[in-house]
Amino acid sequence: MEPRPVAASRCTLSRIMTLLDANLHGNIHGGVIMKLVDDAAGVVAARHSGGRAVTAAMDEMVFLVPVHIGDLVHAHAQVNWAGRTSMEIGVRVDAERWDEVGEPLHTSTAYLVYVGLDEDGSPRAVPPVLVDEDDALGQRRFREAEIRRTHRLARRDAILRSREG
Ligand SMILES: CC(C)(COP(=O)(O)OP(=O)(O)OC[C@H]1O[C@@H](n2cnc3c(N)ncnc32)[C@H](O)[C@@H]1OP(=O)(O)O)[C@@H](O)C(=O)NCCC(=O)NCCS
Repeated sequence: MEPRPVAASRCTLSRIMTLLDANLHGNIHGGVIMKLVDDAAGVVAARHSGGRAVTAAMDEMVFLVPVHIGDLVHAHAQVNWAGRTSMEIGVRVDAERWDEVGEPLHTSTAYLVYVGLDEDGSPRAVPPVLVDEDDALGQRRFREAEIRRTHRLARRDAILRSREG
């Protein structure tokens, strides 16, 4: 399968947060941000894999600063790594304060695993990720995605083993 460059599937989704998105503290509910993150990552996974893909896992979602009602939130998503049927999508969330002028604030980062599916709903092969040799950031993201994958699978296997007694 032909490798696909990261830039071919990159996606940014943006939305203004409203009163309906707020939690009891008056800030934006984390689940609203997670939905936007999953939506943006889903677009990247579908573009990179060239078809249907589902969320298999979402981890390391950090919330650095609260998002406010009225803020314009951007979810920037790109594929970091691909295996045989799975892909890691990294998402960076920025918010533009509705009442402040300045650079967007980095509010969250998340990593999601998507799996490409065939018509029967079984995992299908996805293209490798092409990272240019002179793209140091892309190379770093690729390496770190491999570390996260190793840890995810090791944790899953360890839990399954412990359940077997
Ligand atoms: C995702 C799903 C298709 C994986 O099915 P599966 O039977 O575990 O498939 P496999 O064991 O062949 O794994 C497929 C790939 O996913 C990876 N994977 C599966 N679980 C994983 C996890 N917890 N973390 C990281 N990778 C995982 C495997 O390593 C494999 O990757 P590779 O082919 O690149 O090496 C299946 O669990 C599913 O349908 N889940 C529900 C998905 C869904 O409905 N999402 C919507 C959100 S609710």
